[in-house]
Amino acid sequence: MTHFRVPGTACPLRSRRTCHSVPGSSEKFLAKAPTLAADQVFLDLEDSVAPSEKDAARGRVIEALRTLEFPEDKTVVYRVNGTDTPYFYRDLIDVVEAVGDKIHAVMLPKVQTPGDIELTDKLLRQIELAKGYEVGRIGIEAQIEDAVGLVNVEQIAIASPRMETLIFGPGDYSAAIGIPITQIGGAPEGYPGDHLNYLYTRLVVAARAAGIQAIDGPYAAFKDLDGLRERTRLVRALGLDGKWTIHPGQIETINEIFTPTQEQWEKAEAMLAAYDEATAAGAGAAIFEGEMVDEANRKMAERIAGQGRAAGYGA
Ligand code: COA
Ligand code: MG
Repeated sequence: MTHFRVPGTACPLRSRRTCHSVPGSSEKFLAKAPTLAADQVFLDLEDSVAPSEKDAARGRVIEALRTLEFPEDKTVVYRVNGTDTPYFYRDLIDVVEAVGDKIHAVMLPKVQTPGDIELTDKLLRQIELAKGYEVGRIGIEAQIEDAVGLVNVEQIAIASPRMETLIFGPGDYSAAIGIPITQIGGAPEGYPGDHLNYLYTRLVVAARAAGIQAIDGPYAAFKDLDGLRERTRLVRALGLDGKWTIHPGQIETINEIFTPTQEQWEKAEAMLAAYDEATAAGAGAAIFEGEMVDEANRKMAERIAGQGRAAGYGA
């Protein structure tokens, strides 16, 4: 089964420059979630919740989704435990039955095969039908966190029309692959380039081929904003759409890196105008600031111009 979202024609994907993790076991963190400047917040039932707290956290997340008021433009997600745990089915069924109308998507960790997505898709459909929710509205976000998941990533990306993002999980991936680090989201010594270049490129290509988004995971050293900036600039350069945050202090830095500067936006708009003028006069290519620009530049500039307009420039 293949499902492709054609960019620009299907329902537009939500903004996810920052995807903020809120442990479902903490009343205090949950209460803060609607006030944070992250584009997306996800309430977590997986690895930030201790095994003894899983049931209680599920109840707390339901209560939080029922009672908290999130701003209209915030993407609201929660993370279930993986399909190989004893918690997955209750995480999915109990929460979506109770508050499925309050969420935009379900995040599924440790995805290894398209079957994980298909299982989640079919269960969501069952709940939607039984509860009278709009069928197919709830999206799926898939974390790629080991070698099996990466080997299957292209098929995972198209396993359901609900698919909205592929997310890289750096901690689990480093452990599974044998990368010798203990810092989540950090880089090991001894490799002259970036050790994740292959993974990021494969992830973003799989996402683009499916018309969905590619998101980088967390940077655990939350007090090290220089390190965070470096990793974020790197994934931004490779084409990814956003990055996780685990502490509120990381949000501003990442939002800034994923937003073009006013100057970059103005240049993109000026390039579009110059190109439009040239094509209106019958030329396929134009000169803009001493460089040749053609149809490919229009597409590149369109992306930056769109991001700038979304950030409010020129409004
Ligand atoms: N979500 C919402 N609020 C958070 C938060 C989060 N993830 N992390 C911290 N805060 C709040 C704190 O409650 C505190 O609020 P206050 O100023 O009203 O008291 C404020 O932000 C500053 O927090 P700080 O005291 O600096 O951090 P901490 O010591 O309380 O917590 C961590 C640090 C790392 C334990 C915590 O940020 C955390 O648990 N992060 C999420 C981890 C996670 O989700 N892991 C799984 C995905 S990898
Ligand atoms: Mg993980």
